[in-house]
Amino acid sequence: MRTAIEGTGMYVPDHVIDNNRLAKVMDTSDEWIQRRTGIVTRHFAAMDQATSDMAVPAAEMAVEMSGLKKQDIDYVIFATMTPDYYFPGAGSVFQQKFGLDDVPCLDIRQQCAGFLYGLQLADAMIRSEQRSQILLIGAEVHAGFMPWKSWDVVLGHSDKEITQEEFNRNTRFRDRAVLFGDGAGAFVLSSSVDDNRGLEDVVLHTDGNEVDKMWVKAGGSAYRPYFDPQMFKEGDTTPILNGREVFKVAVTLLPNVVNEILKKNGYSLGDVDLFVLHQANLRINEAVQKRLGIPDHKVYNNIQNYGNTTAATLPLVFHEAAKSYSLSSGALVCFAALGSGLNWGAALYRC
Ligand code: ACO
Repeated sequence: MRTAIEGTGMYVPDHVIDNNRLAKVMDTSDEWIQRRTGIVTRHFAAMDQATSDMAVPAAEMAVEMSGLKKQDIDYVIFATMTPDYYFPGAGSVFQQKFGLDDVPCLDIRQQCAGFLYGLQLADAMIRSEQRSQILLIGAEVHAGFMPWKSWDVVLGHSDKEITQEEFNRNTRFRDRAVLFGDGAGAFVLSSSVDDNRGLEDVVLHTDGNEVDKMWVKAGGSAYRPYFDPQMFKEGDTTPILNGREVFKVAVTLLPNVVNEILKKNGYSLGDVDLFVLHQANLRINEAVQKRLGIPDHKVYNNIQNYGNTTAATLPLVFHEAAKSYSLSSGALVCFAALGSGLNWGAALYRC
């Protein structure tokens, strides 16, 4: 028995923020952002939209595509690093907003690799016949991590000049603040009636030595209290990235894990029809593609439009790519992602 993707869905919020808009609140430029990252726009949630709100329309789309009813869903796995509240997790909040009965809702926190970890969990539950129809969600609202106060300017509601003090502070975070966007993706997963179709394997890794390569320091039990004003001053409530190091690690570990899963399953690179890669930086994906020798037509990138949406990225890419490529029955898809933790991995899926 294999686990099949029966429905996919996505949602991005209405506010489309281009690079020039970000240049109004910090010292950056469209030219720098596009050249170094490939990002042209990202979507940011409205002031009253939280992560669970992103997940609801994405899940509705996935359930509708699957032909199931909401009530058929018997488990929810919610991957996010930006839950609505510190606790409980976003899964419980989502369940109530989506209108599910008391099915279990599990939150997982593996950042950019969260959806891969969720796929492995869902697959184990389906193949062991503990659950039949699982809703796997990846959703993020990074907006709350952004350093600026002037959301009215960023969201385009005002063109007022911000203070020099705020402009300087925002500029301290410009390397990271340009990278992220908000959104959600969802899969409905259930057991495949066709033995040839479905998830073939998931390979996962964690390296806890690299925690401080990408993290948010404040807001955890390492500090008493969890938050204090000094943390905001120091910028510890905003993601801290060692961008250059992450770049180097990503262009090594991603090709390695793709080769690992292919070898383990007796495939070669040429057997894969589509690569669905995490979208942290277009230049990372171009380097990975070059190292592996993958032709352009086998990779779908959408970071240009959405930025890095962390746990939402893989389902956003797959949902759009499946439409554009109209993946034929029997096509082999290779997913790969790396993110904070470090957590990274790959999955193979037969359409
Ligand atoms: N606009 C203009 N100039 C900038 C900006 C900006 N937004 N950001 C940095 N610069 C400047 C720097 O100040 C520096 O200037 P200097 O040479 O005068 O000192 C110069 O550009 C180069 O800065 P670097 O930080 O070295 O730039 P780099 O080329 O490494 O690009 C980036 C930075 C885009 C972050 C890149 O390193 C990267 O993509 N890394 C990996 C992505 C990543 O970390 N993703 C996080 C995943 S998050 C997660 O998993 C939760």
